[in-house]
Parts: sequence; structure tokens; C-alpha cells
Amino acid sequence: MVWLTLKRAGCNENVIASMKLAYRISRIKTSATLAAAAKAAAARQQGQDIIDFGLGEPDCPSPDVAILAAQAAMYEGYTKYTHASGSLEIREAIAKKLKEENNLDYTPSDIIVSCGAKHSLYNIAQVLLEHGDEVVIPAPYWTSYPDQVALCEATPVIVATDETNQFLVTPEQLNAAITPRTKAVIINSPSNPTGATYSQKQLEALADVLLSTPAWIISDEIYEHFHYTTQPPVSIAALDPRLKAKTLVVNGVSKSYAMTGWRIGYAAGPREIITAMGTLQSQSTSNPTSIAQRAAIAALQEGKAFIKQMVEVFSERRLFAIERLGRISGFRCMPPAGSFYLFPNVMALCGKRYGQYAINSAVELAEFLLDEAGVAVIPGEAFGVGGYVRLSYAVSMDRLAAGLDRIEKAVSKLL
Ligand SMILES: Cc1ncc(COP(=O)(O)O)c(C=O)c1O
Repeated sequence: MVWLTLKRAGCNENVIASMKLAYRISRIKTSATLAAAAKAAAARQQGQDIIDFGLGEPDCPSPDVAILAAQAAMYEGYTKYTHASGSLEIREAIAKKLKEENNLDYTPSDIIVSCGAKHSLYNIAQVLLEHGDEVVIPAPYWTSYPDQVALCEATPVIVATDETNQFLVTPEQLNAAITPRTKAVIINSPSNPTGATYSQKQLEALADVLLSTPAWIISDEIYEHFHYTTQPPVSIAALDPRLKAKTLVVNGVSKSYAMTGWRIGYAAGPREIITAMGTLQSQSTSNPTSIAQRAAIAALQEGKAFIKQMVEVFSERRLFAIERLGRISGFRCMPPAGSFYLFPNVMALCGKRYGQYAINSAVELAEFLLDEAGVAVIPGEAFGVGGYVRLSYAVSMDRLAAGLDRIEKAVSKLL
């Protein structure tokens, strides 16, 4: 591609032959979920009415307190650089949140604020991983984990979990995956895409394995407020001081406060790692936006009622979607304990046909549903497993009902 552009511009062919992209970028691909969203957007642009179940973000507006705080920040001239790792004020607000909600003690120096949780995870990978390292990632996984690991020339070690075990990794599976090269283990609870959420007991069982290896634990807790059982998720770092000493807790305001576009995420953990991430950040993005930091502080301090209201709405949609999907032939769905996704098994639809469509994978089913039903879903392949699709219920109840009706109608044509 680069080569073609240079050639068209008339550059010397001998010179451009050695002008190539760095090898590292060839190790990764575009985020599969963002690519699927772009596909749905393209169909919409062509005038199709697409019901988008691919969304990875709450559909409601950000809380007023955040918007007003951002506005005030701008008027007050809070529009300059802050500390590269985030202002002291926001790191204090995060420390307070971690203490009150997660029973975790951190000082502001143990916390870094980045441009979204994705950026926090990226920084962790960059400061910890190198060629020869392995990172254990239970599958189905959030789509960016393996690519962020691969970008560091480290190796993602994917551990397939089982639907019959609620997609939770077992201590035995974890133990079998850990080698002397294991540098980190990623735990994402509640999970994207399955909603699987570890109970304290299940985390304690994993902890026994994790304490016996020198691997770091990366605990992605971004969906912590989206849970629908009587057992709220717990942070593995809160279980034991020895676990806290080797865990990086990752979180942010994107999901809990419907603030995906503001790009504020954070990590808390061992001081040396957080400091190294700060050094990296100071030479790359510098601070996340000052205005968004102020908005995030307001959300963290005054947004509890907002979360409660939003999660109540999601809870209703979840129950509705589980029940409705359960009546669609070919979809088998485990009721997820957390996040805002359903991850039904669609293997029964593989081998079916309709017109020019032959469904041999979840990717082909997703294409069929986009074309035939005007509904966007994300194939499980984006999360490391075939035979499943991810449906987000972060859409209004009307659209949810209409989209599931459309899926039923389209699927009924498959023979
Ligand atoms: C599991 C998981 N971790 C991290 C992120 C990144 O969140 P942010 O928008 O804060 O970068 C996402 C976003 O979809 C996610 O699903």
C-alpha cells in the first residue's frame, strides 16, 4: 500500500523498495468489533435500517454532572496540560473510589489515568512484555487483548473456557496454561463478550494457582457495575495483600458512566509498573484530556444514582432478551451474570442454507443477519471462538424487540 502510493507519486523504485512499514504492525489486525461496527455503519449509510446489536457502549447520554463539569472546566480555563499520568485531583478521586467500592488501598502515585481502559491495558503490555513472554488469556476474550500482547512480540496463550462452566476458566486449566515464560494472566470479570463473572470463591480458587507463579495479574474490571445477581463482582486484588502486590487493576468511566467518547480509563497497581507506564505515557500521549478528567471526577464523585438507574434499565432488557432469544430456533443462550451482552451458541444453525447464503460459521451467520434481517451482531470469531455471536442489549427496548423479531424471521428461512 505504502509502496503503491510512493510509486504513483513518481518516487524511484529502488528507493521505495526498502521503505516499508515496521514488522510489528503486521502482527496485529484492526479491532474486530470496530470493523463490524464500520460494516453496520456502511449498510446504514446506504439507506438500510440497521438495528445494531454490535454496540459495546451504553446507549444513554453521559451524566449531566459530567457534562456540566466539563463545561465549567473549559470556562475556568482548565484546558492546559495536566500531570502526564492524570491530575492529582483525579487520581485522588480514583483512590477514594477504589477504597470505597473495592476495598483497595492505593495512593495517587499507584494510579495512572490514560485515554480509556484500552490505553491503560496497552501501556501495561508495553512496559511488561517482550519477545519470549507469554500471556494467558481465557477465551472468549475481549478482542484487543491478544493483539496488544502480539504488538509487544510476546505470545498470547489462549485458554478455551467452556459454556457448560459459564465460560469461567478453572484452576486446572489455568495451571496447565502457565509455563516458566508466563509473564501475565488476564482476568476480565464481568466479561466481554460472555458476561461471565467470577464469584469470590471462584477467584480464590484461581488465586491459589496465581500465587504459585511469578506472573502478573491484569484484572480488567471495566464492567464491574453491570451485574445482575445477588453477588456483586469482587476484585481479585482485594482478596489477599500478596495478590494486590502482583495485580494491575484496570477500570474506567467508559461503561459505568456511559462516557466512552471521553476516553478516561485508569490502572492501579505496583508503584514501579505504574511509574513505568507514566514514563511511557509522558513520551507518547501525555495526559488524557484535561476537560475529560474533570468530567470523570464529577462522575466518580456524584454518579452513583446514574449507575443505579442505568443498570436497572439494562437489567430489564437483559431478562427480556434472554427470554425472547430463547424462543428463537437455533439460538441457545446461557443467562450471563454481568456486562451487557448475550453470547448465544448458534452451532445449530451451521450447515443451513438460504438462497446464496450457506452458513458455515458465526461470521457467515452475522453477514446473513446483516443482509437479510438488517441486524448487526458480532461473530464469536472476534473473541476467539466460533459457533457463537455476541448481541449487545445496549439498545432501547423497542429496538431490542424489533431486532429479535427480525432475527427470528430471517433465521426461519434457513433450511
Ligand atoms: C473488556 C473491556 N476492557 C476494556 C475496554 C476498553 O474501554 P475504554 O473505552 O475505556 O477504552 C473495553 C471496551 O469495549 C472492554 O470491553
